[in-house]
Amino acid sequence: MTINAASQEWSSLRYAENARFVSDLGEPLLALLNPQPGERILDLGCGDGVLAKKIVNAGATAVGIDGSADMVAAALRNGIDARIVDAHNLNFGAEFDAVFSNAALHWMKRDPDAVIAGVHHALKASGRFVAEMGGHGNVAAICVALFATLEKYGVNDPPANPWYFPSVNEYRTKLGQHGFRVEYIGLIPRPTPLPTGMRAWLETFAIPFTKAVRHERRSAFLDEVTERLRPVLCDSDGLWTADYVRLRFSARRGT
Ligand code: BEZ
Repeated sequence: MTINAASQEWSSLRYAENARFVSDLGEPLLALLNPQPGERILDLGCGDGVLAKKIVNAGATAVGIDGSADMVAAALRNGIDARIVDAHNLNFGAEFDAVFSNAALHWMKRDPDAVIAGVHHALKASGRFVAEMGGHGNVAAICVALFATLEKYGVNDPPANPWYFPSVNEYRTKLGQHGFRVEYIGLIPRPTPLPTGMRAWLETFAIPFTKAVRHERRSAFLDEVTERLRPVLCDSDGLWTADYVRLRFSARRGT
C-alpha cells in the first residue's frame, strides 16, 4: 500500500472547524510578504482564501489557486479570485509581483522542483517568493504514531510519508537551482495548540494514512493513534499541542 498526498480530501467546513489556527498563525508570514498597494500577488494553496483576503485588504490584488474544488468554492464565497489549479502545472508567465504560500507546499511532494520552476516562471523579474511549510522534523511524533499504528493494522508495505518536509539546506539548494536568490530561510519550531484536539486533527489532515486502513477499521485506527500520542502531546488539562516545525523563507527571482 502506497500512501500519497493526492489521496488527501479537503472539506472547507471541516477545515474551518478544526484548522482555523492555520490561517490565524499566518500573520508573521504576511508581515514577511509585506504586500503593497497595487501589487499583484498569487496565493499558492489559498485554501478558503482567508489570508488572500488580508492581502487584498492591504491594497494588493490577490489571485488564489488551490487543488481542491471545495476550498476554491469557499475562497470564491470569500470574494477571492480563486481557481482550481494543480501547483505542479502552473501556467502563469511573469505576471506576479509576489507568490505567497502558507501551509501548502508540504502537500506537493510529487515534484517540488516543478512547483518551484512554475513559481519562478509566474514571477516578474525581481518578484519575491514568500512561503511557509512544514520543515524537517515537522509533526515527527505524529508521523511515528501513524506509521507504528499502520504497521499494527497490517499496512506495512512500507508506506511512504505523503508529506514533504525539507531541511533548510535542501530547500535553499532547490531555490538556488531554479534561479532564486534566498534572502531569508529558517526552521522555526512552533508547538501548535489544537483547539479541537488530536483526533480532529487526524481526521482533517491525515486522510492519506487513514485511507490505507480498511474502511470498517478506520475509526479504531484513529482512536489508537490518538492514544499513542496522548502521553507526549496532551497536557494534564487535556489540551493537545502538535509538534509543528515551520520552514519559512523569502527568495527573489533573478532577472
Ligand atoms: C502542517 O501544516 O505542518 C501540516 C499539515 C498537515 C499535515 C502535516 C503537516
